[in-house]
Amino acid sequence: MKIDILTVLPELLESPFQHSILKRAKDKGLLEVRVHHLRQWAVNEYGQVDDYQYGGGAGMVMMPEPLANAIEALSKEAPYDEVIYMTPDGARLNQRISNQLSLKENLLIICGHYKGIDQRIRDQYVTKEISIGDYVLSGGELAAAVLVDSIGRLIPGVLNDETSALFDSFQDDLLAPPVYTRPADFRGAKVPEILLSGDPKKIDDWRHEQSVQRTQERRPDLLQP
Ligand code: ADE
Repeated sequence: MKIDILTVLPELLESPFQHSILKRAKDKGLLEVRVHHLRQWAVNEYGQVDDYQYGGGAGMVMMPEPLANAIEALSKEAPYDEVIYMTPDGARLNQRISNQLSLKENLLIICGHYKGIDQRIRDQYVTKEISIGDYVLSGGELAAAVLVDSIGRLIPGVLNDETSALFDSFQDDLLAPPVYTRPADFRGAKVPEILLSGDPKKIDDWRHEQSVQRTQERRPDLLQP
């Protein structure tokens, strides 16, 4: 999979993809993330990519030309399956959306700044608008990093143990069960006996029960039909 990210702050996206699972995805040739500086497509030699908003009001708006030129130039290499705009008024990211996006080949993510991007770019080029939660960030970069992380780990072949993503929280609308490691007795707090039983069926059943219980207690909304 290839993911292009369009941003005015590429420095913010230097580190997130260089470690851990995303680094492994890159090393295995399964994920390529390219960060593009929008100023390459600025409207003048001052690097201008934003302007005052029509109708007045505080805050700048990202201009349509640089964005349109960038999207058109980048999509010449290969058409995008989705052009995603990170914005607090987009659809709230969840595991279902990440699962769907992990099956795509070629994505473009646009990071907004200031008051956001000109509506005409949203109308004409953007195919998906995604929010990572009901709060406002200073820009779309950290949100884009969250999105890429959640997608990248789901790409087939990225995780060592292919089944491990299957047991993530939300994968079947349930939260993950509790996990334990050594020692079996930590200052008097013992690991549940069943996990030491060596009986895979019983352990699976126990984990499922714990997942359901945890979901009922913490996120009953996930259990609503
Ligand atoms: N940009 C600013 N806030 C955001 C949010 N909550 N989600 C996605 N992009 C954003």
